[in-house]
Amino acid sequence: MIFPSLWGWKFPTEFPMREVEPGEGIWEVQTKGPDQTQHLGRIFGEMLGQGSVVALRGDLGSGKTVLAKGIAQGLGVEDEGEVTSPSFVLVNEYQGRVLVHHVDLYRLQRPGEGEDLGLEEFISGPGVTLVEWAEKVPSLLPEERVEVHLHWVSPGERKLVFVGKGRAAKDLVDSLGHKWRKMKGE
Ligand SMILES: Nc1ncnc2c1ncn2[C@@H]1O[C@H](COP(=O)(O)OP(=O)(O)OP(=O)(O)O)[C@@H](O)[C@H]1O
Ligand SMILES: [Mg+2]
Repeated sequence: MIFPSLWGWKFPTEFPMREVEPGEGIWEVQTKGPDQTQHLGRIFGEMLGQGSVVALRGDLGSGKTVLAKGIAQGLGVEDEGEVTSPSFVLVNEYQGRVLVHHVDLYRLQRPGEGEDLGLEEFISGPGVTLVEWAEKVPSLLPEERVEVHLHWVSPGERKLVFVGKGRAAKDLVDSLGHKWRKMKGE
């Protein structure tokens, strides 16, 4: 055996992200527990308005729906219990200070089905669109959007990476980062 230590070695599928300060349209944060993720979502939701699109990406159980619940609350949706993963119907709608479309594309078989769902209309129309498993319809996403990549860290911890796509979305991400850090006294 020449390199026994290489036997169990796997090529890393994801390189460690460098720590990024808010200010570049990318902000990374770690949350401890679902309540903290939901709280972060609420602060973020308070900053969104007509036409905002948020793409939520991450494995099963990474916290996309928990974050969406918070975002909906921040958008004035009063009954947060209403905000559940729309896995079977694919799209839920909630009325807050704006209309919120919550889309879950996990069960989407092919991108064309996204068009059948009228995804383009939500996205380009008024209201806010939150899309879980947005990576399934890359061509339907607008250039101006915030992507949130959620990663499992431990049973109670998640890493969230907010990426602003487009100028306004980058500014939004930076403001969110600054706001959160200020709130936490960092
Ligand atoms: N820091 C955390 N942030 C968010 N969720 C957490 C955290 N720690 C533990 N959890 C738990 O992880 C689970 C996240 O579930 P959630 O339904 O939000 O995932 P999801 O990404 O929407 O999955 P799916 O792809 O199946 O829709 C919940 O059970 C929640 O309690
Ligand atoms: Mg979900």
